[in-house]
Amino acid sequence: MKKVELALGTRSYQIHIGINNLSRLGPEMRKLGLRGKVLIVTNTKVEPLYAESLIDTLKETGFSVHKAVLPDGENYKNLDNVAFIYDCAFNAGLDRQSSIIALGGGVVGDMAGFAAATYMRGINFIQVPTTLLAQVDASIGGKVAVNHPQGKNMIGAFYQPRMVFMDIATLLTLSSGEIRSGFAEIIKYGVISNHSLYSYLEEHPFLENIDNLEYWMDVVEKSCLIKAQVVSKDEREQGLRAILNFGHTIGHGLEAATSYQKYSHGEAVAIGMVGAACIAREMGLISSGEEERIKNLIGKTGLPVSYSDISWDDLWFYIQRDKKAQDGNINFILPTSIGSVILSPVDSELMRKVLEQELVK
Ligand code: NAD
Ligand code: GLY
Repeated sequence: MKKVELALGTRSYQIHIGINNLSRLGPEMRKLGLRGKVLIVTNTKVEPLYAESLIDTLKETGFSVHKAVLPDGENYKNLDNVAFIYDCAFNAGLDRQSSIIALGGGVVGDMAGFAAATYMRGINFIQVPTTLLAQVDASIGGKVAVNHPQGKNMIGAFYQPRMVFMDIATLLTLSSGEIRSGFAEIIKYGVISNHSLYSYLEEHPFLENIDNLEYWMDVVEKSCLIKAQVVSKDEREQGLRAILNFGHTIGHGLEAATSYQKYSHGEAVAIGMVGAACIAREMGLISSGEEERIKNLIGKTGLPVSYSDISWDDLWFYIQRDKKAQDGNINFILPTSIGSVILSPVDSELMRKVLEQELVK
């Protein structure tokens, strides 16, 4: 078992990374002084796969265990389903000493976290992420949210978990498409801050390692270390944390312009990273050789490097609406080399030219 510390003073917590370790969750929660009632929030797909192991360990360590099983999918990430979690919590008699455990991917984690942040003004929250994307990104750092018709993740909070506890073996039941989507975020970590991680990914393609749990332990740990360091320096995204949005400005625009139907989050971020790299090259910030390396690894991974059937006007509309835009200014995270990025405003005409010439299929 590996442990990564996310340092936030009295709210610091450990990220546990292991293989077939779910039976250790109860004792680890005990070590944190947790007791009493627990509500496991999961969904209809993950529950039959992993809930039983968690229920056993929690019961063995003296917790009283309850479940809230949500429907599966991003479409259900809304306040109605948070209300369902509150109902389950009240019916089970959860009090301020109780805990909510999120067992699932980022959708379950974001919703369970929002419920934990608001039920009785906040109760203990534990993340047990079961997708690659949630293990390297969504479960870490305390962003919890639900969607609103006005936009994705528009209703939310910063609410840190007491612990993140992941079993890398849960990746074995995940589809290769979902693994690929999570892998885009790992590529992102390489570009924003770790050249050696990036080279390692180039030399060890994920498709050759898809069932290699030691490989995943390694790259997940490296990714968690980067995210933990960034969040511990800038929990509320006043500055540095924005680097985690590399690829996301265009990515979120593509997702929104296609009503979240055409691209997975990782695919949209992959196109966004290629777009940001092309813009950076056009602005003279990165060499064309390094830009090519970014495009090549993304392509070799089987992630898209271009898009089609989306007009500039639509894309621009959604990019401007992104909640990271400030007073209509679009600040981009742009790579200056592999392992280093800067925040810079980008002229919309330059962006249009680069995207239309280089990214539209
Ligand atoms: P997801 O939660 O929808 O999971 C993807 C699919 O995999 C679902 O069908 C799920 O039921 C299934 N699944 C989960 N674990 C499985 C397993 N071990 N085996 C088989 N199937 C499994 O999607 P995701 O990619 O994990 O997360 C995306 C969500 O995360 C989005 O809502 C996004 O906004 C959010 N997110 C949040 C943050 C954050 O910082 N809070 C960061 C990135 C993304
Ligand atoms: N996923 C971006 C962040 O946590 O800030």
